[in-house]
Amino acid sequence: MTGWGRKGAVSIILREHQQLTTAIGGMLQFVRLRENGSTAPGLAVLRSILYYIREYPERVHHPKEERYLFARIRARTTEIDDVLNDLDRQHAEGEAKVRELEDALTRYELTGISALPALSSRVQEYVTFYANHRRIEEDVVLPVALRTLIAEDWAEVDAAFGANRDPFEGVELEDDLDKLYRMIANIIPEVRT
Ligand SMILES: [Fe+2]
Ligand SMILES: [Fe+2]
Repeated sequence: MTGWGRKGAVSIILREHQQLTTAIGGMLQFVRLRENGSTAPGLAVLRSILYYIREYPERVHHPKEERYLFARIRARTTEIDDVLNDLDRQHAEGEAKVRELEDALTRYELTGISALPALSSRVQEYVTFYANHRRIEEDVVLPVALRTLIAEDWAEVDAAFGANRDPFEGVELEDDLDKLYRMIANIIPEVRT
């Protein structure tokens, strides 16, 4: 997505959304290949994608949204309080959904093909869930942020989202997760063939 007219946190958020969407799309492709009976990568690949989808939003992306972006918006305007409350709830709901996905994958590992439809429907549900979450943040939250936040707000939000990483804890974790993402992104084209 382009045309936001702002670098820093906004472009980082959009990139992180895109990376998550790619990882989630990879999970869907993987399950589809299994359903079609095609050759699919080993289950360890799906396990790695799930690990990324669990760790990245929970420990990197969502905390930064809640603590910095959403907090600064709430301080400037009440107009989207309900939307932000919903998104906070969705962050918690997303964690529960990822655990359900992990359970469904474990059942598939243990029992085989009979557990594939349940895994597949959970994956498809997660794809829809995340697409909706992303859409609300990009179509509602970011435009309000661009309209209401002032320079000192952006300085803090940009710093939190990595424009200036030094004061932010968890940099090592982010680097590790970035490496994992690159590995997953390299595998996904193979999943497509
Ligand atoms: Fe979010
Ligand atoms: Fe987000």
